Amino acid sequence: MYTIRTLNNISQTGLGKLPPAEFTIDPEAANPEGIILRSFDMHQMELPENLLGVARAGAGTNNIPIDKCSERGIPVFNTPGANANAVKELVLAGLLVSSRRIIDGAAWVQSLKDNEDVEKAVEAGKKQFTGPEIAGKTLGVIGLGAIGVQVANAALDLNMNVIGYDPFLTLESAWHLSASVDKAETLEELVSQSDYITIHIPLNDKTRHTFNQELFAATKKGARLLNFARGGLVDHEALKDAIEKGIIARYITDFPTAELLGIENVIVTPHLGASTPESEENCAEMAAVELREYLRYGNIRNS
Ligand code: MLT
Repeated sequence: MYTIRTLNNISQTGLGKLPPAEFTIDPEAANPEGIILRSFDMHQMELPENLLGVARAGAGTNNIPIDKCSERGIPVFNTPGANANAVKELVLAGLLVSSRRIIDGAAWVQSLKDNEDVEKAVEAGKKQFTGPEIAGKTLGVIGLGAIGVQVANAALDLNMNVIGYDPFLTLESAWHLSASVDKAETLEELVSQSDYITIHIPLNDKTRHTFNQELFAATKKGARLLNFARGGLVDHEALKDAIEKGIIARYITDFPTAELLGIENVIVTPHLGASTPESEENCAEMAAVELREYLRYGNIRNS
């Protein structure tokens, strides 16, 4: 019998993949053999003595002390692709919202609630919320894993031109990327040609502050930047400077920090990328199966 500790609210349907005859699920277990988690920061805790495997119900693993786990021979699993559709849908919403002034326009209409003639006020004031169409514009996709590829293919369907950059993959490989996506040789090339840029790479020591002063200096003026990957990929001081200089017309991110609040042309959502019932279930199920197969048979997938 193995004990699995869940460190976040993990979908019960997914956990159903761990048969109760072999696995006890206990969110309070002090010394579990397995851990399944979502966004809990595992750097804050000592690794339990009995720990044999960790599974993240999500793609990113930057909240897990991989080095410490490796030193002890503990594999860390993730669930690539299991939430890709959910994130893609949010990115598409972000793409549209970065162009069309839906959020501030709707807030402005609400602010007219005490106005005597709302229709007249709307007709007089709506011009301030004009925004460009995305069709015919260029989207640069940084990172062509499960999510980046889905976003790139969907943007083609919206009649955008799409450029991809991924130093680790050939564009024809993994996840069925459309042949209509052009390839950029460098990040600088991608950002200098893109009207919209979306980031889909993991956060680690090599990618932290990918968007820094130098990359912003190479970016096309008036670009809209979407970050539904990780907040640390963008240097916020450099971002503020790029917004002031008009290099970045809008920044949309799913990773709130205090320094981003109250800045004009920045939209922050509360880490909603994978927050759909479908994705939560898919991720929990994949994480549970990975851990189950490892504890049962030593099989390793996605670690
Ligand atoms: C991911 O890394 O895939 C997401 O952060 C998952 C989540 O929102 O929990």
